[in-house]
Amino acid sequence: MAGPRAVALLALLALPVPAAAGGPAAAACDVPPDGRFDCGPERLLAREGCEARGCCYAPAGPGPGPPWCFFPRGYRSYRAENLTVTAGGYTARLRRVVASFLPGDVGSLRLDVGLETPTRLRITLRDPARPRYEVPLATPRVGGRAATTLYGVQVNQDPFGLVVYRQRGGQVLVNTTVAPLFFTDQFLQISTCLPSHFISGLGEHLTPLVLDTAWTRVTLWNRDMAPTAQVNLYGSHPFYLGMEDGGLAHGVFLLNSNAMDVLLQPSPALTWRTTGGILDFYVFLGPDPKSVVRQYLDVVGFPFMPPYWGLGFHLCRWGYSSTDITRQVVDNMTAARFPLDVQWNDMDYMDAKRDFTFNKKSFKDYPEMVRDFHRRGLRYIMIVDPGISSSGPPGTYKPYDEGLKRGVFIQNATGASPITASLPQVWPGPTAFPDFTNPETHEWWHDMVKDFHNQVPFDGMWIDMNEPSNFVEGSQDGCPNNSLEQPPYVPGVFGGRLQAGTICASSQQYLSSHYNLHSLYGLTEAIASHEVRGKRPFVISRSTFAGHGHYAGHWTGDVSSNWEQLYYSIPEVLLFNLFGVPLVGADICGFVGNTSEELCVRWTQLGAFYPFMRNHNDHGTRPQEPYTFSPAAQAAMRNALRLRYSLLPFLYTLFHRAHSAGETVARPLFLEFPKDPNTWAVDRQLMWGGALLITPVLEPGKTKVSGYFPAGTWYSLAGVCAPCCTAGSQVADSTIHSKGQWILLPAPLDTINVHVRVGHILPLQEPAFSTTESRKKGMALVVALTLDGFARGDLFWDDGESWQTFERGDYTEILFLATHVSDGGCAHLDGVLLEAVTVLGVTSPPRQVLANGVLVSDFSYRSDTQVLKVPVSLPMWEQFVITWF
Ligand SMILES: *[C@@H]1O[C@H](CO)[C@@H](O)[C@H](O)[C@H]1NC(C)=O
Ligand SMILES: *[C@@H]1O[C@H](CO)[C@@H](O)[C@H](O)[C@H]1NC(C)=O
Ligand SMILES: *[C@@H]1O[C@H](CO)[C@@H](O)[C@H](O)[C@H]1NC(C)=O
Ligand SMILES: *[C@@H]1O[C@H](CO)[C@@H](O)[C@H](O)[C@H]1NC(C)=O
Ligand SMILES: *[C@@H]1O[C@H](CO)[C@@H](O)[C@H](O)[C@H]1NC(C)=O
Ligand SMILES: *[C@@H]1O[C@H](CO)[C@@H](O)[C@H](O)[C@H]1NC(C)=O
Repeated sequence: MAGPRAVALLALLALPVPAAAGGPAAAACDVPPDGRFDCGPERLLAREGCEARGCCYAPAGPGPGPPWCFFPRGYRSYRAENLTVTAGGYTARLRRVVASFLPGDVGSLRLDVGLETPTRLRITLRDPARPRYEVPLATPRVGGRAATTLYGVQVNQDPFGLVVYRQRGGQVLVNTTVAPLFFTDQFLQISTCLPSHFISGLGEHLTPLVLDTAWTRVTLWNRDMAPTAQVNLYGSHPFYLGMEDGGLAHGVFLLNSNAMDVLLQPSPALTWRTTGGILDFYVFLGPDPKSVVRQYLDVVGFPFMPPYWGLGFHLCRWGYSSTDITRQVVDNMTAARFPLDVQWNDMDYMDAKRDFTFNKKSFKDYPEMVRDFHRRGLRYIMIVDPGISSSGPPGTYKPYDEGLKRGVFIQNATGASPITASLPQVWPGPTAFPDFTNPETHEWWHDMVKDFHNQVPFDGMWIDMNEPSNFVEGSQDGCPNNSLEQPPYVPGVFGGRLQAGTICASSQQYLSSHYNLHSLYGLTEAIASHEVRGKRPFVISRSTFAGHGHYAGHWTGDVSSNWEQLYYSIPEVLLFNLFGVPLVGADICGFVGNTSEELCVRWTQLGAFYPFMRNHNDHGTRPQEPYTFSPAAQAAMRNALRLRYSLLPFLYTLFHRAHSAGETVARPLFLEFPKDPNTWAVDRQLMWGGALLITPVLEPGKTKVSGYFPAGTWYSLAGVCAPCCTAGSQVADSTIHSKGQWILLPAPLDTINVHVRVGHILPLQEPAFSTTESRKKGMALVVALTLDGFARGDLFWDDGESWQTFERGDYTEILFLATHVSDGGCAHLDGVLLEAVTVLGVTSPPRQVLANGVLVSDFSYRSDTQVLKVPVSLPMWEQFVITWF
């Protein structure tokens, strides 16, 4: 970042100074309050200081509201010159015409507009004279330009501004003319108007699905911080999706990893403020919200395919202090007849809290324990933290000795030694941080992981504390005083300084300074961890950045055991699906603090519909394993788990579609019903794919829940998919015919409301106590017919754990159409029988039912619910036809 100062200085001297004190003309200051853009981003200004910047001053009330000092209309910054057509689109030169009030103006910029595809446009602003840091994310390289596009582009010359609009209808999606552009060494700012107040994205925060445009500041800078409102959390996803009138949608991605603020104001408008790098935007034209997500994932990468067992139930807590205790947990789960696929350990297993070691006393039979779990059909995952202990004498701890020798650690600002920080897992000693932007670090990491795996045959990795988290500020020696540690503009980061809770910004990594690379720490560690094993990887990470879902999943960190955080987990899961990280979930029953039985039941019911389902608990709080609760609570949890296990073939197929086609798994309603604006802000319900609508209870003491049902027919899953699952005992098999309305549903404690949308066929499987067992059970279909008797669905099936089965063609994909089933090659389905077909919406009682032409005599039909149940015994690997008339 801190490059040759002289260049910037020369440019500065050549520029005219801003308008004299006294301020701009009154007419230029006649800007409606909601449309005012802040002229004092880095500090509060009194009238004099404000007017000295050529800005307007108008004190307003206290609290969030219009800035007191704001830009007048036509405030000059850059002027566009020499706009020319290129092979990929357009280019222009921008020249700064008036010096800005911040140091390090880049006087001349190169604008490139790439018409990359009919629905995707890329806009970059760079310093043509001096290369600056750019995010090392491999994005598509495009040679030519799209011939026809959904968008049009206009460039405003002076002051410079760029407009992106829809060719059809003319809706303006981006207009940066609304406020001046800043491009200085450490402060880059660009603003745009928004076509509506419905914008979603810009994670990671504790936030509703739709952001508040009433003067909000959203800060992105990865931070170890228990989820709290208005605070930057573990991940950075500088992407938003905006809704437009009529249900159209567009998206904007700023490919920039520096600490940044995004400001939202009610005109509505949005301002990006970042502290380094370049301005590199992608605009996605949709035109529907699902397409926007796919177009975004075309750029950052489609999600990885998790192993089938990864979709089962995971159980963890900090405080399973020995193999004996860990074995007891598994035994107790089995005795209480709960499904369990993956047992975890937090750092209790480590020797002196060091990675790649285990306690030879309390965990002396650790490898044997893991092998025992494998024999029982379970998998095993343990925590790995990035900090590598540097406190022992040389020769005592191979990961550090070897890492030092191979130069893998992040260095201090002078590059003289690894930056030493302190993490709880190595308390009381110092630690060094591996630099995962260095290819050598990947080699070293592979070697360490492999060494450990040779001892303890674990199945996946849980990478935590990788913001990276540091329990001293900066380093044990503090941080130097330089422009990276004390930038002219500090975004609204928690703690007020970039180094708060992490390492010094000016420490050095292989690719650049930590100042630039900080928010990529978790992503780069996930990439290194994703690569290490031969089988399909399973990595769950706390810290994330755009593109993370291509390599790993995410859990939402240190959530508290309370009802508010139960609710917030829904928008968080939905947002991470929009970010292309579908494998996501919150710690069920909450992590911090004591849960209650009722909360834990409701959380388990909702958690059964997190794509990643793990119950995890803090040290010292009351136990919250399912078997620790009353018989009634256990029964309710068992129902929820059995329902999830029944639905796993459907869930796995959704993951396949995410992996192969850039779809979401858990889905906000507006993705399916964009033309119904009532759905846009719904975030107390979620969908699985396009077929299931889940309406959980999120408040204490409630036995009813209100949910929004988009227009159409919805069948309750309760009862209809028996014998293989039960959604709860007391809900009637009630069918909802909605006009697009809120509906109050019964929701006793043993019930989660799940509804099937007409037109869909769900593949189900009889549940078992692990996926190893359930994968051998019979399958069933639930067919929800439309009024004209149509439904479709699909099933993706493979061995569940080999690497790249889709890419290698080693899988089966079956498309189900109403009464007709067609097949493919059907590998891996040998021996699996289809045992039941449930058809919803059969309007009159059938006289006869045939399965492959053979009469089925024991079908049942209820005219009140219009449900037809057909018991069958058909090989899934052969084509079959079921007919009724
Ligand atoms: C614009 O083009 C003119 C004529 O080709 C050239 O003299 C001028 O230097 C160019 N300006 C910039 C900023 O590149
Ligand atoms: C863009 O914004 C500027 C400044 O507010 C305004 O004058 C102009 O009309 C807008 N352009 C379009 C196409 O809306
Ligand atoms: C397992 O269950 C036994 C018997 O109820 C109990 O004593 C033990 O504490 C339980 N262990 C754990 C780790 O929950
Ligand atoms: C980096 O570490 C070396 C060796 O410990 C030390 O001399 C130097 O002052 C450190 N530099 C900074 C900027 O902390
Ligand atoms: C850092 O140095 C600048 C001058 O170079 C000084 O003004 C500032 O007070 C220093 N900050 C700290 C925290 O020491
Ligand atoms: C949480 O439960 C534990 C017992 O499991 C108890 O010791 C502790 O006091 C409880 N904490 C709170 C805040 O109630």
